[in-house]
Amino acid sequence: MSTAAPIAPHGGVLINRVVDGEERAAALERAAGLPSVTLNSVALSDLELIGNGAFSPLTGFMGEADYRSVVDEMRLANGLPWSIPITLSVSREEADRLEIGSEVALADESGRLVGILELAEKFGYDREHEAERVFRTTDAKHPAVARIYTGGDVYLGGDVRVLDGPQDPPFARYRRSPAETRALFVENGWRRVVGFQTRNPIHRAHEYLTKVALEVADGLMIHPLVGDTKSDDIPADVRMRAYETLLADYYPPGRTLLSVYPAAMRYGGPREAIFHAIARKNYGCTHFIVGRDHAGVGTYYGTYDAHLIFDEFEPGELGITPLFFEHTFWCHACEGMASYKTCPHGDDRHLILSGTAVREMLANGQVPPPEFSRPEVAQILIDAYRSEATVR
Ligand code: ADX
Repeated sequence: MSTAAPIAPHGGVLINRVVDGEERAAALERAAGLPSVTLNSVALSDLELIGNGAFSPLTGFMGEADYRSVVDEMRLANGLPWSIPITLSVSREEADRLEIGSEVALADESGRLVGILELAEKFGYDREHEAERVFRTTDAKHPAVARIYTGGDVYLGGDVRVLDGPQDPPFARYRRSPAETRALFVENGWRRVVGFQTRNPIHRAHEYLTKVALEVADGLMIHPLVGDTKSDDIPADVRMRAYETLLADYYPPGRTLLSVYPAAMRYGGPREAIFHAIARKNYGCTHFIVGRDHAGVGTYYGTYDAHLIFDEFEPGELGITPLFFEHTFWCHACEGMASYKTCPHGDDRHLILSGTAVREMLANGQVPPPEFSRPEVAQILIDAYRSEATVR
């Protein structure tokens, strides 16, 4: 198979803010004497993704011009599309003891040094405005809006250097940086690579989307998000077992790559679909699947809002091509997976189960129909619910 240069990263250059060797040793020594800020798990995962270039062209936490422009215009201050603010909040008291123009040590919650911030700016922000513009709601029940409301009053902006990744990162063998996935795609001769974001087990609908997409691509990267999710989402370790089992028997190994995306989930629906697509471009994907209610939660977003938002950019501005899918399901009349786009039958012939209904079935040890979820996957989920019930 012929090889080709991979797709350009967002902004043209794959950022690498990870320091090693002597530079790291010197930075660690310096950092020990600096004032420090503790990163929560979301900021920690943001730091990792800035560091390894998944958030290219970001080189640090956003300053005020980028922040305001992203919130109001869905673009960085230089005009490049960007949909979700990447910010570091601290309390006013913490901000007061930090001096603009100086370095700040970044530590994880155990006190371990993980990076250095070159503090360029401190600025206040309007929580409700950010929530409304980015998440289309000011409701504190929205998980990401709740995070905005409970964050500190001041955002710190500036470039970062990453000294250490997360401690004992889970799924280490699937944790590939954008430079690594890009190299793998070239090695495999994959020119058209479709990325699949998911925070759920792969049910039949997800499997259908990924396989239809693979029909027109050379390779598929299943890229489950494994950073912070809400407490009633299926935990990442359970999902990973389910992905491994499914991939072993139902996906072509030479055309499928399972790799993790260690970002925190924002549940930002349309804005997050853009953000997910840009990040996957940085990992080297040329195409990105956007299905029904992508990254949605509750009833905050319309079923296809995450498709419509792509129209707000000129063709080619995002670089990566979205592959839109309508709601898909098993149709008893078609005797196969179908969607509202391809199926002429009524809903009485369609097998559609809500997330809540499936969770209830699994919690009661009930196996969902094989047309909804492959039995091997359902079994892993039932076992997980059972052991969780035992722990409780
Ligand atoms: S998400 O929060 O990561 O979007 P999920 O893991 O359920 O949630 O979805 C992964 C991708 O599959 C998203 O692009 C979503 O829109 C799509 N998707 C999930 N279920 C369906 C379905 N039944 N029909 C069409 N697209 C779907």
